[in-house]
Amino acid sequence: MEITFILNGKEICMDIDPNMTLLNYLREELFLTGTKEGCGIGECGACTVIVDGIAVNSCLVFVAQVNGAEIITIEHLEHDGQLDRLQQSFIDNHAVQCGFCTPGMLMSSKALLLKNPNPSQEEIKIALSGNLCRCTGYQNIIAAVEGAIEE
Ligand code: FES
Ligand code: FES
Repeated sequence: MEITFILNGKEICMDIDPNMTLLNYLREELFLTGTKEGCGIGECGACTVIVDGIAVNSCLVFVAQVNGAEIITIEHLEHDGQLDRLQQSFIDNHAVQCGFCTPGMLMSSKALLLKNPNPSQEEIKIALSGNLCRCTGYQNIIAAVEGAIEE
């Protein structure tokens, strides 16, 4: 099956195995390994990418379903060596420990800020409610998103 979509600003037109998940396609076919596989069943958010402006669990989406869509992955947050303000704020606020959840946290946060540039703390918590972190206790992550807003 041939599909076309926009990935990180570039048009991709490829033959795909329609049974493959978007997560596996990104990692195994396109070698975009920034998107992580945690649970593989929609529970942890480590695999979050942005599809048409919405944060989605890429482990729950078949790649065939993104035909015609616009996708942003963690690899697209940094431009020309310049970190996205969310990435910088995660560093500044010590919101990263092992880092496994971080790409998903960043993509959920990015989707929130694209839709709502000035969210309340409650809205941040709701936006990140599908992202699990085993290390940080969440407070620094929320502070990092708030820090990115203040910038
Ligand atoms: Fe997709 Fe956990 S790997 S939600
Ligand atoms: Fe380790 Fe979040 S920093 S799981």
